Amino acid sequence: MSAKRYLITGATGFLGRHLIEHLIQQRPDMSPLPMVRNRLAWDTQDWVKELPAGAVAEVMTGILSDANVPAKQAEMGQIDGIFHVAALVRHSRANSADVYQTNIDGTLDMVRLAAAKNCRMVYVSTSGTVGVFDSRQQWADEHSSLREKEVKKWPYYDSKLQAERAARKLANKLGVELVIIRPPVMLGPGDHRFRSTGHIIRVLRGKLPFLIQGGMHFVDIRDAAAAMAQAMRIESPQPLYHLSGVACSIGNFFRMVEQASGVKPPSMFLPYPLALTLAHTGVALAKIIPGMHESPLPDPVVVEMANKFWDVRSRYAAQDLNFYNRNGQATINDTVDWLIQHHPKLGHLTPIKRAAQRELTKV
Ligand SMILES: NC(=O)c1ccc[n+]([C@@H]2O[C@H](COP(=O)([O-])OP(=O)(O)OC[C@H]3O[C@@H](n4cnc5c(N)ncnc54)[C@H](OP(=O)(O)O)[C@@H]3O)[C@@H](O)[C@H]2O)c1
Repeated sequence: MSAKRYLITGATGFLGRHLIEHLIQQRPDMSPLPMVRNRLAWDTQDWVKELPAGAVAEVMTGILSDANVPAKQAEMGQIDGIFHVAALVRHSRANSADVYQTNIDGTLDMVRLAAAKNCRMVYVSTSGTVGVFDSRQQWADEHSSLREKEVKKWPYYDSKLQAERAARKLANKLGVELVIIRPPVMLGPGDHRFRSTGHIIRVLRGKLPFLIQGGMHFVDIRDAAAAMAQAMRIESPQPLYHLSGVACSIGNFFRMVEQASGVKPPSMFLPYPLALTLAHTGVALAKIIPGMHESPLPDPVVVEMANKFWDVRSRYAAQDLNFYNRNGQATINDTVDWLIQHHPKLGHLTPIKRAAQRELTKV
């Protein structure tokens, strides 16, 4: 029996890469059909060149809304499912129109495509639509309400929240089986765009001037990719799964980074109002100082988010998706080792020698 074909949007990104690698290594019955915006950019990525010959037999080009064009639909032939991974992950409030357009309209186009192809769609949203709080010891599970008021001022999370809601409504109307997955921050090796791991890189480069008191929540991207593949294949999935990971304070998170790298994080914790004022000042200076394209400080939205506490738990992911998030320090170790080997500005560091560890923790 030939392998089933699965369209993967966002195939050139961090999660797209892990999903493709997971299918190739662990799911020979699931053949990836990447959809990429720029074929040359796809062909020239190092990790793509390292894939086993013939493992990705076909690649489609297109931006998200292209998929709605009948010619594109015909070109891709029958598909057995859509992993909708693509999104514009940009936290700043500046120029947010394309964040909304890509993340909401693009998702609705994929639901329409799933309807036309009569297939399941697994859509990656984010824990940020539900799991953000003002204090510790709070979390959201699959039955919790969307945190609309809290994320309204953050375009990226607001766009994902609106996308979830609109996609569910359209899927119900068109009879599409839509499975939404909500991971927290994803870390691990292979962030070739250096985006998801940006804060770790800043610390390793000595470019994070201060910390603030707040929370962090992360999951290993390899475990998230495996859970997504399972969500596509199980017989009767829930409509929604949370992927719970490690929830900790920002201080503890950077202590894990220190343990993995030997690089000390900043010791200064700034009071939130001061940190926010500095972040706004950085943005204002970047606008008026010639040649200064961006603020050397974190974006104000990032400071606002860092002041919050994040946590999601799941009632279903362990049982249905066999989801196990590995030990958090093991994820950070692998992330840091990979960054040291691949980031152009981290060549002065050397990976710490340590015994292999990959302790699985059931969550
Ligand atoms: N990384 C995290 O910590 C995290 C946490 C929770 C949820 N998520 C969600 O997980 C998904 C994947 O995130 P990621 O970290 O892999 O992001 P990423 O590395 O930034 O990759 C984003 C992908 O989306 C594609 N894309 C963006 N706009 C597009 C458009 N208009 N048409 C077609 N493709 C477009 C990009 O293609 P190009 O190469 O052409 O730019 C790229 O392949 C996203 O939906 C994100 O919201 C991420």
